[in-house]
Amino acid sequence: MTWRGVIDAYRSFLPISGQTPVVTLYEGNTLLLPAPRLATQFGVDIYLKFEGQHPTGSFKDRGMTVAVSKAVENGSQAIMCASTGNTSASAAAYAARAGIKCVVLVPAGYVALGKLAQALIYGAEVIAIHGNFDAALKLVRQITESYPLTLVNSLNPHRIEGQKTAAFEVCDQLGSAPDYLALPVGNAGNITAYWKGFQEYREAGRSDSLPQMLGFQAAGAAPIVDGRLVPEPRTVATAIRIGNPASWQKAVQALEESHGRIEKVTDEEIIEAYKMVARLEGLFVEPASAAALAGVAKLAKTGFFPPGSRLVCIMTGHGLKDPDTTLNTCKLQPRVVPGEQQAVMELLHDLNVI
Ligand code: F0G
Repeated sequence: MTWRGVIDAYRSFLPISGQTPVVTLYEGNTLLLPAPRLATQFGVDIYLKFEGQHPTGSFKDRGMTVAVSKAVENGSQAIMCASTGNTSASAAAYAARAGIKCVVLVPAGYVALGKLAQALIYGAEVIAIHGNFDAALKLVRQITESYPLTLVNSLNPHRIEGQKTAAFEVCDQLGSAPDYLALPVGNAGNITAYWKGFQEYREAGRSDSLPQMLGFQAAGAAPIVDGRLVPEPRTVATAIRIGNPASWQKAVQALEESHGRIEKVTDEEIIEAYKMVARLEGLFVEPASAAALAGVAKLAKTGFFPPGSRLVCIMTGHGLKDPDTTLNTCKLQPRVVPGEQQAVMELLHDLNVI
């Protein structure tokens, strides 16, 4: 059967009627890759759900197809969001697809290059504010309450509805829910959506168990782990540079109900995992996604995972979105030599390749 997006695939679980104009980029159906080399390293059966495979390169497309379809159904002519980058790219793309306007507010200087380029090329009005994501979201909430712009941050319940389809896919691809579901946490919409999805799928008899949810925040932006607001969040993983998550309480509920854990990882651990998943499994993910793997690595070291348990780690966004982090933060640059065989061979010798 041809894949026609998450609304077509999971319509009965979504707030979609025959009247809803479906705005889709055929999102969803992303890879669930076994990661044998990481599994050996961590001693747990690990799968990577590669959400970077989406049309705009992140998981946001799952929620945006539902949010924008509903906005259009309700007569909206324009959508608005605050974003650390990926939500803005996705909102801009779906607005283009729907032929409506899109306004995005982003923190000036803290959005990865690829994400900014995306929002601009899709034709959104991109406004960079002197302030962080939390300040941008506050402004967007105020403006959308008073003006005819539909809010498409994950405070919009249709976003959560769409994003929960990722949990359905994990169950369908694995044949059941995994024992553990690990993911990065920023504004906390995605952890909320996964938990809702796993519960609904079990209630519908489509899976027979529930996973323990494992959330990971960056150490400089860990309000849920530390139990307090972070006025000036800091991390290399700009996607999750958030100090006051909108779905904080729902995330805590998901963690409690699933008997899960939330932990923080340092920027050094994030960068190590960022390189590790690329070099051991051939998957290029963005730093925020690597935060989840860094967390798994940390827990594995403490013997947290019982032998034989199955874990799915959500790789939320594509590495190509943020080439700056690879080239500049990680200081990975090509070696430059004269264009002669001798020079190349000397270098290969020095590098122990030959
Ligand atoms: N991973 C990536 C790549 C993200 O872009 C985000 C959030 C998260 C993880 C965290 O998900 O917020 O649901 O807990 N990005 C938002 C944005 C904030 O504006 O693109 P969350």
